[in-house]
Amino acid sequence: METFKDRINFYTRLINKKLDQVVDKNNPASLYSPVQYMLDEGGKRIRPILVILACKSVGGEIDKCINPAVAIELLHNFTLVHDDIMDQDDLRRGKETVHKKWDEATAILAGDGLVALAYQCLLKTESEKIREIGEIFTNGILELCEGQALDKEFEKEFEIDLSQYISMIVKKTALLLMISSEIGAIVGEGSHAQRQLLKNFARELGCAFQIQDDLLDIEETSGKTFASDIQQKKKTFLFVHAINNASIADKNRMKAIYQQHDIRKEDILTVRNIFYSTGTVECAKQEVKNRIDKARSYLTQLPNSEASDDLKLLLDMILNRKS
Ligand code: IPE
Ligand code: IPE
Ligand code: MG
Ligand code: MG
Ligand code: MG
Repeated sequence: METFKDRINFYTRLINKKLDQVVDKNNPASLYSPVQYMLDEGGKRIRPILVILACKSVGGEIDKCINPAVAIELLHNFTLVHDDIMDQDDLRRGKETVHKKWDEATAILAGDGLVALAYQCLLKTESEKIREIGEIFTNGILELCEGQALDKEFEKEFEIDLSQYISMIVKKTALLLMISSEIGAIVGEGSHAQRQLLKNFARELGCAFQIQDDLLDIEETSGKTFASDIQQKKKTFLFVHAINNASIADKNRMKAIYQQHDIRKEDILTVRNIFYSTGTVECAKQEVKNRIDKARSYLTQLPNSEASDDLKLLLDMILNRKS
């Protein structure tokens, strides 16, 4: 395949085809319809693409990694369905969220079903290291839950610092990218050092990815609920940076806004303005660039190959994402 874009399209089609085959039942419809709805095209498929490129970058074949790749995408979709209940969001990928289209009970069960489907798929992995892969996958889920717990706990706090924020996003977001590249490297039979460097690469990429996601919250075109993070009092990069860099007057203004039970529409715009006027938005964009550069620096230690070049191009693709 000629270009990076062609190869990404090819992998995406392959992943979507596999995802289509994962659910081969329609009944009961209240379980399988929302699962199917969630797996329909619309997601960027970043994590399974990462599994494939990590595997290939250490010399592995795509046949070896397609099952764990799809397993991680299934797991990711579980986290999104439950996350949307936790964050009370109505919109994802430009469509209604599962609990909005159906109801919360249906969304909880659809999420549970997605975890089971993820394990079903993971267990098809042909590798003598399947036990180790299973452990990484399972520990990953638990750590992701820890990240989500911190995310919820921080809603009730005001003085969260940058290091607390980073520990939270490493768990809730970077971890899934880290297990994607680590499992890709394992099934590709990479060396221990290669596994470690791909994991380090994904940690930086994952943090960049979440800071970008925080930035997308104040864009109207992300396909997700506008300013949901402000409404839910999330301690995002934007909040944490602004609170530490705002004038005393702005800090007090933010305090008053975040003390309200429900934040009013005009207050959301005030907070957004403070994010701009304190230079927070610019700083967040710079932080994303710095972390993407750091991620890129790890890749230079991989053997030269089309896949290692593609990992660098994937970084550029993510850097320029709009959703
Ligand atoms: C959304 O992830 C959740 C975060 C970790 C920020 P993605 O932006 O990868 O979601 P989809 O699958 O492409 O919709
Ligand atoms: C991302 O957190 C982490 C998970 C979904 C596990 P967010 O709550 O910021 O993700 P979005 O913005 O809803 O996709
Ligand atoms: Mg959310
Ligand atoms: Mg969330
Ligand atoms: Mg978000």
